[in-house]
Amino acid sequence: MKEINRTVQLVEVGPRDGFQSIKTFIPTEKKIDLVKTLLAAGIRRMEVTSFVSPKAIPQMADAREVVAAVKAERVEGLQLTALVPNAFGARAALEMELDAVNFVLSVSETHNRENVRRTVDESFAELAKIAEEYAAAEKAPRILLSLATTFGCPFEGPQPVSRVADMVHRAADLGVTRIIFADTIGVADPLQMETFWEDILPVLPEGLELSLHLHDTRGLGLANVYAALRFPVHSLEASFGGFGGCPFAPGAAGNIATEDLVNMLERMGISTGVDVETLSRAALELARFAPEAFNSHMARVVAGKTACCGPA
Ligand code: COA
Ligand code: ZN
Repeated sequence: MKEINRTVQLVEVGPRDGFQSIKTFIPTEKKIDLVKTLLAAGIRRMEVTSFVSPKAIPQMADAREVVAAVKAERVEGLQLTALVPNAFGARAALEMELDAVNFVLSVSETHNRENVRRTVDESFAELAKIAEEYAAAEKAPRILLSLATTFGCPFEGPQPVSRVADMVHRAADLGVTRIIFADTIGVADPLQMETFWEDILPVLPEGLELSLHLHDTRGLGLANVYAALRFPVHSLEASFGGFGGCPFAPGAAGNIATEDLVNMLERMGISTGVDVETLSRAALELARFAPEAFNSHMARVVAGKTACCGPA
């Protein structure tokens, strides 16, 4: 049996994926408070917002204010990213001096068109433009790439691994340093996860950080994490409270809850530096804006004051 990967890192994406999925506008001050609680919980890698069209996602209209407030905290070692769909967003990330931008592109043509209104080739042209602009800039953010619908598309179904691999090569040639394989609609299962890594690892370029972004739509999120932990996954993305979902992917539901992931990793002896109780308090607070989407086991345990099981 392969060893468990004990060096995997945790990336909190709730302030982007979680917030974007909530219809009710969360007041900017509340967003900032929540993010500060995440920092107090020990989160040090965070997708803090997205720079997208406010017409596409009105919830993210205050992206710059949120980033400015978080940066003003001057938390040591904090690494902040923002999701961007185009060069317009990447310029905002450069101005705000973020550590990285997460460029989003879908493996499936149809989802890419629904999400960012571009063909895959047009999105690659946009990525090339960002790389060119950043190469000419001082202290430019790193460029990460999220490959949405890697494990299946709501419009086109399964996507060939060879197509995913081709996209990784194209991105690496443009200077992308991390690839995030996203299960946008939560369709992957643990066996598929294993097969995916076995198939793709031998055909990828060397030296890339490889990450996973999992939605828990069908309750298989943590099982998929367990399958992936047998492979050299650099980081796992999760969202506090289990909120999340792309508004342009029918059937999308929340991410794996960060506090559930932290609990699982810690119990398996993988240190995260994150406090489940503090994280759960943020999750319960956010749940007031979208109680129906709340999907966190550990936050419920914390809310019930651990009525159940005694020492871990
Ligand atoms: N940030 C803020 N505003 C932006 C922007 C960005 N990154 N990109 C474009 N805009 C503005 C333009 O300035 C323009 O404004 P105007 O109407 O006042 O002139 C308007 O949006 C339309 O610009 P255009 O380039 O024609 O965009 P579009 O209508 O073709 O939409 C995207 C393309 C990518 C901007 C839009 O689909 C989008 O933001 N998608 C994000 C989807 C998302 O976040 N999904 C969830 C994450 S997976
Ligand atoms: Zn997502």
